[in-house]
Amino acid sequence: MPDALRADVRVLGEALGQVLREYGGAGLLDDVERLRELAIASHHEDLTVADDAAAQAERLVDSWPVERCEEVARAFTVYFHLVNAAEEYHRIRSLRAADLDEHSASSATSAAVAEIAALAGNEQASSLLAGLEFRPVLTAHPTEARRRAVVTAIRRVADLLERRDDPRVGGSEAAETQRLLLESIDVLWRTAPLRAERPGPLDEVRTAMSAFDDVLFHVVPQVYRRADAALGDSTEVRAPRVPAFVRLGSWIGGDRDGNPFVTSTVTRQAMAIQSDHVLRALEAACHRVGRGLTLDTSMTPPSPEVSRMLADAEAAQPEVYADIAARSPNEPHRIALLYAAARVGATRGRDADLGYQSAEDLLGELRTIQGSLVAAGARRQAYGELQSLVWQVESFGFHLAELEVRQHSAVHRAALEEIRAGGELSERTQEVLATIRVMAQIQSRFGPDACRRYIVSFTQSPDDIAAVHELARYALDDRAIALDVIPLFETGADLEAAVEILNGALDLAETQSRLDETDRRFEVMLGYSDSAKDVGPVSATLKLYDAQARLTEWAAHNKITLTMFHGRGGALGRGGGPANRAVLAQAPGSVDGRFKLTEQGEVIFARYGNPAIARRHIEQVASAVLLASTPEVEQRAHAAAETFAELASTLDVAAKECYHDLVHTKGFPEWFARVTPLEEVGSLPLGSRPARRGLTVSSLDDLRAIPWVFSWAQTRVNLPGWFGLGSGLAAVGDVDVLRRAREEWPLFTVMLENAEMSLAKTDRRIAARYLALGDNSDLTEKILAEHALTTEWVLNVTGHSRLLEDRRVLGRAVALRNPYVDALSYLQVRALRTLRQGDDDAPGEDAVRRLLQISVNGVAAGLQNTG
Ligand code: PGA
Repeated sequence: MPDALRADVRVLGEALGQVLREYGGAGLLDDVERLRELAIASHHEDLTVADDAAAQAERLVDSWPVERCEEVARAFTVYFHLVNAAEEYHRIRSLRAADLDEHSASSATSAAVAEIAALAGNEQASSLLAGLEFRPVLTAHPTEARRRAVVTAIRRVADLLERRDDPRVGGSEAAETQRLLLESIDVLWRTAPLRAERPGPLDEVRTAMSAFDDVLFHVVPQVYRRADAALGDSTEVRAPRVPAFVRLGSWIGGDRDGNPFVTSTVTRQAMAIQSDHVLRALEAACHRVGRGLTLDTSMTPPSPEVSRMLADAEAAQPEVYADIAARSPNEPHRIALLYAAARVGATRGRDADLGYQSAEDLLGELRTIQGSLVAAGARRQAYGELQSLVWQVESFGFHLAELEVRQHSAVHRAALEEIRAGGELSERTQEVLATIRVMAQIQSRFGPDACRRYIVSFTQSPDDIAAVHELARYALDDRAIALDVIPLFETGADLEAAVEILNGALDLAETQSRLDETDRRFEVMLGYSDSAKDVGPVSATLKLYDAQARLTEWAAHNKITLTMFHGRGGALGRGGGPANRAVLAQAPGSVDGRFKLTEQGEVIFARYGNPAIARRHIEQVASAVLLASTPEVEQRAHAAAETFAELASTLDVAAKECYHDLVHTKGFPEWFARVTPLEEVGSLPLGSRPARRGLTVSSLDDLRAIPWVFSWAQTRVNLPGWFGLGSGLAAVGDVDVLRRAREEWPLFTVMLENAEMSLAKTDRRIAARYLALGDNSDLTEKILAEHALTTEWVLNVTGHSRLLEDRRVLGRAVALRNPYVDALSYLQVRALRTLRQGDDDAPGEDAVRRLLQISVNGVAAGLQNTG
């Protein structure tokens, strides 16, 4: 561990110790310490020592009253929150240090631009940049296990660490910082870790807004500026060449698939909240930039266009105008921007006389002002802060993020049946129709790009796409609406049928002349989690890759600009992992300058909660997208995919067979529900959405992917991250070929890296304790045997002597955390065992259930991912 981080962790650990002593006397702290020491000893190299320590830890936990168990679980949870805060701050510190070195003005994106320019020339670099598009789509997926109050308290601790680090802080301030640190940790300790109630969808919208207000609104223009700087000359004195390439999307308040609380009213309100936030931000920005533009007419005369703009303004709104003009004598550019600020404010207040009709109107005015400044020679003013404002309007419009709607194909099928039958419509069908009408309303207020995408989960035929168009015609009485119906493919079979389904969809779009002839665009969404749940992680990865390759060919053949929307979660079993590496491992040709993905739950705050980290994330993704789009990288990936096609198919078949053999075993769903805290995870009030869709009867099919992955993470089995890989690799059998594939084929490299990470977070000893709760030694044995086989083969192919050997920092971080997670796991196993054995009405049942939930929360903090 780096020294600075180690020192921070020590300070926080000691402060927590003090808080615990103040709260519970020496007894509580002693208990925490005893469990901690045993958990560490249970990782001793000498297995007898380790086994003995594990058994002692279990006995210790069993000897405590349940209340003490809860306190200890909370202590470990708070410890993890503190370590996470220290690690986050350390990341920021490292980014700053890197920024101080010689390449201070460069960023990952500019490095990529430079690399491409060196490879293929400046022209290609510019043209790639011109077509760049990054669309992160925020979703409310219920994977953020921390309450907002807890997240805020953690942030405060990270800020205090930063203050401690400041060399200018002297003695009295240092003492004050230490006092505040103890106060904050005491708050964290005394704050209930669990939400009392489920949040509603609009609470989820508001939570996500803080990532926009505090981070994205400011960071996005900074990213453009740094990327543009790579093209030479200073952006401050020339027009930028980088387009505003980030476009936010959101599902929060729009995704109703399996979430009955997201109604058409909620969708309308969600857009109102978003728009309120972005208009406030833009108003403030216009004000700030305007106030600074104190350029006197004598030195910076306005262009005729700006003069006309001002004259029109004065005629239209004499009072507003006079008020502003009085504060800015002889400063026409200042007046123009302050007047724009007033108009943005009026737009928010829905004042039709003064407000803007659309974001384009504001943009037009800003460009006119910019042109005037350029004409007067004030290029620094034109392309400085004013340009950042232009970028903000281009990126966020008046709607902040495109609100996307999602619904399950089965719901549309049922709705159409009802409509065709001509009887009374059920509430659900009426909701489907009302939703489409709300989309039309949003479009008429904010323009078509505010809400036009409609995603159909479990699309299985072109009819599922046609259904939405038919419903729209019915809902709107044939009135027009901009509607992009996007199929979501998320089972193995649907991925295989993707091209066929799109052929049908294309025919349909052509017959109904829905395709713009000059700009033939299509979008498809690929579901990583559900496909992994359906066919296992290895086959899903290969099938997704294969589908992307075929879709890319299909698009080229049909002259379609195809965007692939990747539905990936934070956890490895849901397609998570570093986004930039994932981009580089995509099928050749499939990226083509555009990348769209879901950013879910806890990932939103991990990636967009802090400006320095958000900047870095966006820049890394953008640079990976650029690199993946160069012909050189595409050709390399293409060649590798061909060379290793046979290997892929052997892997695919064997891994899937192994996975199906497990999950299709009779009684598996019941067993799974017994050995994991599935039901308890589902009842945690993490998000507004229920854990099951409630559409089908088979318990595993109906279960959403998130609780599936979440539950396996809690039991420390992490099965969705690796299961079947060992059998797959063994079936290929040739280590040399596998090693070559690891060198040459990025997809395979990333697959191995992710599996290695999952395995490193797995703990056989703890896992076995959970699995034993199911009384089925066959299933237990299958899992443990595949785990051993997978570990063996992964080590064999990577040539490592232990997991994560080549990733020192990560490997150490995981190894240091594991014993602390174990402590929580022992507490969780105790609770789960009691619940699985007990009768539901036993006294203390509620306390045990709480202990279980608290430990779930703690393990999630320790593993830093949930579902
Ligand atoms: P979904 O997402 O259940 O909303 O399709 C699954 C996931 O993101 O893991």
